[in-house]
Parts: sequence; C-alpha cells; structure tokens
Amino acid sequence: MLASTKHHGPFARDPDHANLIVTRHPLLEHKVSLLRSVATPKKVFKELVDEIAQLLAYEVTADLATLPAVIETPLETMDGAIVDGSKIIIVPVLRAGLGMVEGVQRLIPTARVGHIGLQRDHDTLEPADYYFKIPPDAEGSMHIVTDPMLATGGSASAAVSSLKRRGAASIRMMCIVASPEGVQRMRQDHPEVPVYAAAFDRELNEKGYILPGLGDAGDRLFGTH
Ligand code: PRP
Ligand code: URA
Repeated sequence: MLASTKHHGPFARDPDHANLIVTRHPLLEHKVSLLRSVATPKKVFKELVDEIAQLLAYEVTADLATLPAVIETPLETMDGAIVDGSKIIIVPVLRAGLGMVEGVQRLIPTARVGHIGLQRDHDTLEPADYYFKIPPDAEGSMHIVTDPMLATGGSASAAVSSLKRRGAASIRMMCIVASPEGVQRMRQDHPEVPVYAAAFDRELNEKGYILPGLGDAGDRLFGTH
C-alpha cells in the first residue's frame, strides 16, 4: 500500500497549543525517526538536521510577502513575484541551532544570519547567555530563530526576549522536536511568536530532556558526548 491515512494535511494545529504549528509530511516523519535513533552516526545526524531544517523552512516562510517583478521569459514578458531575502534574518541558538542554518539558507540564499549563544545549566536548567550578534535593521526584518530542541522553553524564550530588546518585531521559532512544556512556556512569554516544529513529543524527564526526544542535539551534532 502506497498511501497512509496517518497524514491528514500539511499542518496540525491543536487548540490547546495555539502557538504551535507541527508540519506533517511522510518524508519529515521518516527523517525525524532516523534522527531520533541512537544508532544514527554523527555525520548522518548532521545531514538529517540540515535536511529537516530545509523542509521546515518551506512551511515557516509559506506566508512571506512577495514583490511584483516583470520577468522576461524566452518567449514573452510576464508578471512574476520575488521575495526580498535580505529582510530575513536566521538566528541560530548556539550551538545546536547552527546545524539548521544552511538548510534555511539553501532556500533563501540572501538571508542574513545573527547568532545567540545560550548554554543551559545542567542543574537549574536555566539558560545563561554568552554571545549576541545580529545584523542591523531588526525592526524591518523577519527573524527565524533556529534550535532543534524546545525543552523547558527557557532558551527559546530568552532568545526571543533578546531579539525583542534589540527592536525585533517579527519573530518565528523553528525547532525540530518540541515538548508540551516548551510550547506552553513560549505561549506564556511570547504568545505572538509562532512555534514551528517537525515533532511534538510527550514530556520532559527529570533532567529536562525531551521524551522520547533524540538526546542532546548539540552533543550529537558536534561529537561532544
Ligand atoms: C540545548 C538545545 C536548546 C536548549 C533547549 O542546548 O539546543 O538550546 O538546550 O533546552 P530548554 O528549552 O530547556 O532551554 P544546550 O543549552 O544544551 O547548549 P548546546 O546547544 O551548546 O549543546
Ligand atoms: N536539549 C537537548 O539537546 N535535548 C533535550 O532533550 C533537551 C534539551
């Protein structure tokens, strides 16, 4: 059988998590399953994060404004549409968010990149910030914050707060695996920021890891376990 009844459209929106948009697609589900597997080696893990980011970016940018452009085809002139990619700023949360940047840039090569360095304390689970650099014109740009894991939501919330302090008005959060706790935290702290995810998992364990999750994304990407 080729078709499955499991997939019922591109998005899943849940009234209890109005800020969450889970992209449903068989290829995404396949790639996220491989990503989760403890047997997946570092090289493949990195490739999968990149591919999943590219697929998610398609959904995250589905409502981008376009500018009219007159295009000469080899046969005639027509009214086309273009996106001003320079108005998009990809903001990876270091370290793991870095693995998602190229996938987004492949779709939007003219997008600029800002960086936010946050490290979650293993005991308190509170994020400590160690780096912040974003391109100018925060007010006029759309910011796509990338981080594979939305666990307690502390890091994502702090990243969005930092962007808002610098004047960013348009912000979207793009993660691979989201937890109920993280989505709820984002809804409470930043209700206007949509959270895009490839998977919405069950819960956090006592150490703040997402279950079933995929383990420590930064360690698996960079081989630091
Ligand atoms: C991980 C992950 C997120 C954060 C999520 O990063 O990449 O940034 O934890 O957890 P939270 O939602 O509870 O804040 P970590 O702080 O381990 O840093 P790393 O990317 O450098 O490994
Ligand atoms: N950070 C990770 O990398 N994984 C988790 O499950 C939670 C936080």
